[in-house]
Amino acid sequence: KPIVLSGCQPSGQLTIGNYMGALKQWVSMQDDYDCLYMLVDLHAITVRQEPQKLYDACLDGLALYLACGIDPKKSTLFVQSHVPEHAQLSWVLNCYAQMGELNRMTQFKDKSVKNENNINVGLYAYPVLQAADILLYQADKVPVGEDQKQHLELTRDIATRFNNLYNDVFRLPDPYIPEFGARIMSLQEPERKMSKSDTNPNNFIGLLEDPKKLTKKIKRAVTDSDEQARIYFNPQEKPGVSNLLTLLSLATGKSVDALVPEYEDKMYGHLKGDVAEAVVALVEPIQEKFTAIRNDRAYLDEVMQQGAEKASQRARQTLTAVYDAVGFIPRP
Ligand code: AQP
Repeated sequence: KPIVLSGCQPSGQLTIGNYMGALKQWVSMQDDYDCLYMLVDLHAITVRQEPQKLYDACLDGLALYLACGIDPKKSTLFVQSHVPEHAQLSWVLNCYAQMGELNRMTQFKDKSVKNENNINVGLYAYPVLQAADILLYQADKVPVGEDQKQHLELTRDIATRFNNLYNDVFRLPDPYIPEFGARIMSLQEPERKMSKSDTNPNNFIGLLEDPKKLTKKIKRAVTDSDEQARIYFNPQEKPGVSNLLTLLSLATGKSVDALVPEYEDKMYGHLKGDVAEAVVALVEPIQEKFTAIRNDRAYLDEVMQQGAEKASQRARQTLTAVYDAVGFIPRP
């Protein structure tokens, strides 16, 4: 089976954006692919995290993966910091990534603006650690949202450079970006993508949010001041309305083309009400399952322990091949 690898950062509560862009795909790939899904806590500390919050967000994330339908019997589910090979390969790859390449990464530029008091080396090297995550498992496909496309291209460039210098140690991965839903936008600033670490909580829909709160947020979402309040899909002209239509389509399974005529004579308020209802119907069963799983720490520990063991075994093979290729002496 082709190998799939992906992850989310426990840098806050996972959002409906993370779900649509990533998790939803992960679940659907489990039968046809050999899947590895992780919580990338090493990545999360590139932005300052409060220790207890990071700890809890990691357990919440794991329980959410399971509640969304990731099955640890089918997929390898683990926490990145439990598998030391990620940090080890990342160091080696740092020596094969160029400053010029990293300078072009738009996520680094965006995050440097948002975290101007902490532009640390880890934030800069973030895409190299991501390359290590992917290349360690010889992944064929990486299901991600659109914002990660540039990082995937960099991963391929680093891998190609390494393979050309030595032997073909790494398999080149392809991004797997959903045609629709790869970029869910912020509720209040629909020109920007929805992010779990947004300082304004009204911008995102958390998967674990109380349905009443979530409904309020959606009803307050920015639309526009088109006097006729026409409802149609055009992300450039109508970013807010198009984002709501996208969410409704993804949550109900109806196409946007089928939905738009239903709103011909309706107001923005109708659309928002329907989006809220559909999103609540999507998250409520996930939240129910989440609560039961999150309260079973022994089960979560077992999942983490077995996942780390399986992942580490595979990661070690690639790391050994890399160490051999560069000329390190194996530990006697
Ligand atoms: N708005 C989005 N729409 C669709 N997909 C998205 N993803 C993120 N935001 C959206 C996808 O979710 C996966 C996990 O992302 P991540 O946690 O590794 O980091 P991120 O891309 O930086 O996501 P956030 O939510 O914006 O986190 P913070 O705020 O911590 O930076 C990825 O596949 C991503 O593409």
